[in-house]
Amino acid sequence: MGFLEDVESLYKARPYPEVGIFSAFLQKVAPDNLILLNYLSGFASCYGNLGQANKNPKILVAGCGTFEPVAVAMANPNSEIWAVDLSETSLQKLRWQLRARGLLGRVKLWKGDFQKLPENNFDYVIATGVLHHLEDPEKGLQALIERTAVNPVFRFMIYSKWGRSLLYGAKEMAEVLKIKDPSQFRKFIDRLPADHPYRIYFYLYSDAKNDTGLADGYLHPCDSPFSALDLESMLIRNGLFTGSFLHRHEGQPKFAEEICVFDEKQNDWQKIALLDALGQLEENFCFFAGVKPSANKVANHWIWNPILPKRGNYFSKLLGRYVAFDQSKPWQEQENIRDLQKSFFLLPEIQ
Ligand SMILES: C[S@@+](CC[C@H](N)C(=O)[O-])C[C@H]1O[C@@H](n2cnc3c(N)ncnc32)[C@H](O)[C@@H]1O
Repeated sequence: MGFLEDVESLYKARPYPEVGIFSAFLQKVAPDNLILLNYLSGFASCYGNLGQANKNPKILVAGCGTFEPVAVAMANPNSEIWAVDLSETSLQKLRWQLRARGLLGRVKLWKGDFQKLPENNFDYVIATGVLHHLEDPEKGLQALIERTAVNPVFRFMIYSKWGRSLLYGAKEMAEVLKIKDPSQFRKFIDRLPADHPYRIYFYLYSDAKNDTGLADGYLHPCDSPFSALDLESMLIRNGLFTGSFLHRHEGQPKFAEEICVFDEKQNDWQKIALLDALGQLEENFCFFAGVKPSANKVANHWIWNPILPKRGNYFSKLLGRYVAFDQSKPWQEQENIRDLQKSFFLLPEIQ
């Protein structure tokens, strides 16, 4: 079989992520995750203000799996969503998740290779955990770029070579031993000494708790992770620039500045490379990207992210702390205004 067929057959047999029939009723999506999936948050992060943002964005979720479009639909109420995947079984499970939540009418499902999708003009492209599973990730990136409208927003999650190195070591051993199924893999791991780094990492790797996640991580037929600087080069070669990193506080460029001294020529990706080498990134690079803005005007007015309720106190992953908000008071009177802006609870506009 070729790469694509191998990947398809993995996810046909083991649709990812694992979802149960009842998870449509039980599984909660953290409010902060919705903010970080919201198109306007991405647009603000890439283009500095919402002036040119589309009020009804067209969204592509490439390699969507069994659940992600549910969260995307919740995070983007006025949008048209295309959910694309190679795996028919993943799409069947997704269809049930969407129907159970009353979201099926808003999401079009398409089975196949997203690189051949006969649809374009997307304002927002989400590719979580998919580019590194292609035979040629750069061609995949180009296929996504070709399908976008003006001022597109991209949201990528891409595997890190360093962040997952203890996984790749064990994965390579499993290949040598011709281990093909999760139960054999668990036995192999449990034969390692209790303090072996591969074994410790395996039990810390939350996806490995179920066979689907284990196979997705350790038994994948096509997995090409990136270093931070190689990934940055690929983005630049293809005319993309990075908006915000969506890592936790300890994986943000600002955090790198707290622990090391950089000269002014060193950019955010170099800071991310350092954090990656220190193991601060939760195994992946996750970020918004766009094309170079023609003029990055400074915002003079802020609006509430439309998916927030009137008031609340939500944990912001980017800041690593709770951020309280109360929309009954104007934005200028909020005491924690910088936090509200940095967490995308407030979004920049020009009046
Ligand atoms: C690791 S899963 C991620 C699923 C989802 N994005 C998430 O984060 O939960 C990768 C998914 O991408 C799909 N996939 C891989 N290559 C693809 C391609 N060329 N076209 C469409 N889907 C693809 C797989 O079938 C699988 O469902």
